[in-house]
Amino acid sequence: MHKIEVLPSLLAADFSDLGGAIRKIEAAGCSKLHLDIMDGHFVPNITFGPALIGSIRKISRLFFQAHLMIDRPERYIETFKRAGVDGIIIHEESCCNFRSTLETIRAFKLKAGITLKPGTPVDSIKDVAKRLDYILIMSVEPGFSGQAFIKGTERKIAQARELLRNKGLNVIIGVDGGIKLKTIGKVVKAGADELICGEAVFAGDIVKNIKSLYKKANEAAKRMNGEESPCKAYRK
Ligand code: DX5
Ligand code: ZN
Repeated sequence: MHKIEVLPSLLAADFSDLGGAIRKIEAAGCSKLHLDIMDGHFVPNITFGPALIGSIRKISRLFFQAHLMIDRPERYIETFKRAGVDGIIIHEESCCNFRSTLETIRAFKLKAGITLKPGTPVDSIKDVAKRLDYILIMSVEPGFSGQAFIKGTERKIAQARELLRNKGLNVIIGVDGGIKLKTIGKVVKAGADELICGEAVFAGDIVKNIKSLYKKANEAAKRMNGEESPCKAYRK
């Protein structure tokens, strides 16, 4: 297992004060930031792009994890690298050839990940798992912050954990969408390492919210310590 980490999703921040939000995220002890890039084609929403990332890169040393929800992301890997991201996560369905897109990401010395929409099975990554740094399980349909966690996603996380264990791979599992105090414990218990949180971080007091999320996540992780398999409860 990797260290449990809460990654604020900047999409839910107040865009009129991104610098202030980032300082609070750092003060609360986070080391990574999740950046949702949407193009209005692959998903219905449009967010921000490389110019904004380039600006916030100047004021932060956080690890920037870009979640690309854009058509044919292979066209933009170099652009995002130049803007200052540290890792790129792609959707298989958005690429012409997702294996070669993963290779491109790696060639730019970035961490590489695949994300699975709620309807995309875990099995779809079994042949590329060894080339991944992370797998991101979507617990909402990609497109918007503030949606409700899709029940049952914890079983999918457990399946991914199982697949990695069977292959002897040490890939980070993230979960993205509707992660709040109410849902964070069960996804940690199912085997998630990275918890992407939008609304749960930015609605209200950012520092306080992050600390509460960490507390809840670490309690869940502690409870499963010593169990033979953290995701046993979610098999089947
Ligand atoms: C959805 C994005 C998520 C989202 C998370 O397409 O990938 O990162 O912003 O926001 P919450 O935690 O509010 O669901
Ligand atoms: Zn995301």
